[in-house]
Amino acid sequence: MLLTLFYTLLLTCSTAAAMTLPKRIDVHSHFLPPFYRSALAGNGHSHPDGMPAIPSWSIDAHLSMMKTANVSKSILSISSPGTHIVVGNSTLGRHLTRECNAYAANMKKDDPERFGFWASLPLPDVELALQEIDVASSEGADGFGLMTNYHGTYVGSPALDTIFDRLNELGATVFIHPTKPCIKQGDGVNAQTIDATPFGEQYPVPIFEFFFDTARAVVNLFGSGTVDRCPNVTFIIPHSGGALPPLLTRFIQFSSVVPGGRVLDANKVREQLDKQFYFDLAGFVFDGESGGHGQLRALVEGFEISHERLLYGSDFPFTQTEFVEMFAERMKDGLEHLFSEGQRDAIYEGNAKRLLAGERDK
Ligand SMILES: *[C@@H]1O[C@H](CO)[C@@H](O)[C@H](O)[C@H]1NC(C)=O
Ligand SMILES: *[C@@H]1O[C@H](CO)[C@@H](O)[C@H](O)[C@H]1NC(C)=O
Ligand SMILES: *[C@@H]1O[C@H](CO)[C@@H](O)[C@H](O)[C@H]1NC(C)=O
Repeated sequence: MLLTLFYTLLLTCSTAAAMTLPKRIDVHSHFLPPFYRSALAGNGHSHPDGMPAIPSWSIDAHLSMMKTANVSKSILSISSPGTHIVVGNSTLGRHLTRECNAYAANMKKDDPERFGFWASLPLPDVELALQEIDVASSEGADGFGLMTNYHGTYVGSPALDTIFDRLNELGATVFIHPTKPCIKQGDGVNAQTIDATPFGEQYPVPIFEFFFDTARAVVNLFGSGTVDRCPNVTFIIPHSGGALPPLLTRFIQFSSVVPGGRVLDANKVREQLDKQFYFDLAGFVFDGESGGHGQLRALVEGFEISHERLLYGSDFPFTQTEFVEMFAERMKDGLEHLFSEGQRDAIYEGNAKRLLAGERDK
């Protein structure tokens, strides 16, 4: 998220005396170890996705955020642009992915009560990614953090079928994270990737495009038949679904006119959403101190998404600690308007505990 945007927010939101915040498990928080920052900076990503800077991060800063927001456990992942950061350079992608996953695995090993991780994959290189799935699993990955697209290859693309089939065999959890929308043209040595951002640099990509790419990825996971084929994969969709909710009815109803597409059955999709999908609460899911109004209410009430499908997310350090705290305070108020105490406990902790313990909804 944009730092400047948050500074504006700071001016408009009074930071009242710290309130007691319910204990929580954070499934959406990021780590940026020094070698990863250098790799980003050294390969044209000093302003990742149009943001002013690569946010600072350290294990101590992470722990301090956790203390402030009463996070008992953080599941770490690499944010956009992921670990395959130069189109066509799979060697770099493989090394960076391995180093990041090894780093997170060590954090988990050193402090398993407080840290877990969604491992990255060096996609779009499928062979390397299949190897990494095994290595990261043996190192204790809690699941896998996948970008919505890899240089234009979207989750759900047939090119990634073997990846999802393997994840399905493992009964893996897949945390989806948005990145810049891209189009891939051509194949092999002639392949080209171009940005699919019609407004160019006018709007930094995380503000809107991340939400569109999230929706695009989920629609494609259903439309491609990946969700049908992989009933053992559990998906976490960030930011309360991004731009997906208003499209839910639409992509199902229109599936019959998609050339070569599969016809989706509304009841089946509903069942899959209820069993295989979680949504995290990172970002502006409440419209201020608003009595529970805003994005989350639309998802929960408009589309009947149960409290059992919701998980807490901070988006640290792209959301800095003071804003993690501010969002947590809004969330406390907002969730109290929407849910009972038992339901809120499930959202903050219970659902994540069951997910991390590998309990599947059958
Ligand atoms: C954290 O949560 C626990 C359990 O809900 C509560 O007792 C404690 O006061 C909370 N701490 C903070 C700093 O809010
Ligand atoms: C890939 O990146 C590495 C590290 O920056 C560099 O040494 C190498 O030359 C690159 N390979 C290609 C094919 O661009
Ligand atoms: C899904 O998981 C179940 C139980 O863990 C397993 O028996 C089954 O083979 C898995 N399905 C696939 C397609 O891998």
